[in-house]
Amino acid sequence: MTMQLVCSIEEMRKVSHTLKQAYQRIGLVPTMGALHEGHLSLIRLAKQHADIVIASIYVNPTQFGPHEDFDQYPRDFERDKNLCQQEGVDIVFSPDSREVYKDLHTVYVIETCITEILEGAVRPDFFQGVLTVVTKLFNMVGPDIAVFGQKDAQQLCAIKQLVENLNFPIKIIEGPIIREPDGLALSSRNVYLSEQERKDALCLCQSLDLAKRLYVDNERSAKGIKQAVSDFVGLVPSAKLDYVEIVDGETFQSAHEVGSTAMIVLAVYIGSTRLIDNAFFRR
Ligand code: PAF
Repeated sequence: MTMQLVCSIEEMRKVSHTLKQAYQRIGLVPTMGALHEGHLSLIRLAKQHADIVIASIYVNPTQFGPHEDFDQYPRDFERDKNLCQQEGVDIVFSPDSREVYKDLHTVYVIETCITEILEGAVRPDFFQGVLTVVTKLFNMVGPDIAVFGQKDAQQLCAIKQLVENLNFPIKIIEGPIIREPDGLALSSRNVYLSEQERKDALCLCQSLDLAKRLYVDNERSAKGIKQAVSDFVGLVPSAKLDYVEIVDGETFQSAHEVGSTAMIVLAVYIGSTRLIDNAFFRR
């Protein structure tokens, strides 16, 4: 099947309706483009769980704060489309922003627990924007399954809560973090890094390894592990720790003791580029 490009919401609904009538299981992979191997792994995962894979490409303005990188965010639609084609995506859905957010847009989706801390605390608009656009995409596409990456662990947790609390009949599939051979987690924002910053950015995954080693050596105090990570990141001149936290991987609430479902999450500025990473202690 040749890949189809759908740009209007009405057409998306029609296509989706036809697919459902033919009992096709629809898988959605929401993206903001700037596709990398991480996204492609989500597409491959969607193909395992659905008959038809739809990748949405939409840089959602409402999840960027006023001083964030919405304007600079890497965009290369032709490249993204070709990658989707190569991966066997059936439909690329790229809605027009004027249609997604009409002039009078006053309804947003807010989550009041998981999103209060960490990314939610330092990026006040982020989760409201993400949950609103994900809700919109779910309503436009009507997927049976949707795939999100573990790289954005707090986002993933909030989306699972969204689906559960608002009764979306959609199964959320989680894709593992994809890393460069040296350990750097793939991110669309890695392209902002200079050569030296690219090397310095390894402090994120290395500090996660350090935390896991401490855990293996029986350190169970979240405070102790966070301090070690903070000291480690502090040694890298271009790095500035934004936050490091140990949370329960299921509820995303901060933990004092590192339990069996705990994960460590961190955000670090490398120069002016903000990167995030995370790891479970037990996986
Ligand atoms: O993770 C992302 O790329 C975005 O936050 C998402 C889920 C596509 C919503 O814009």
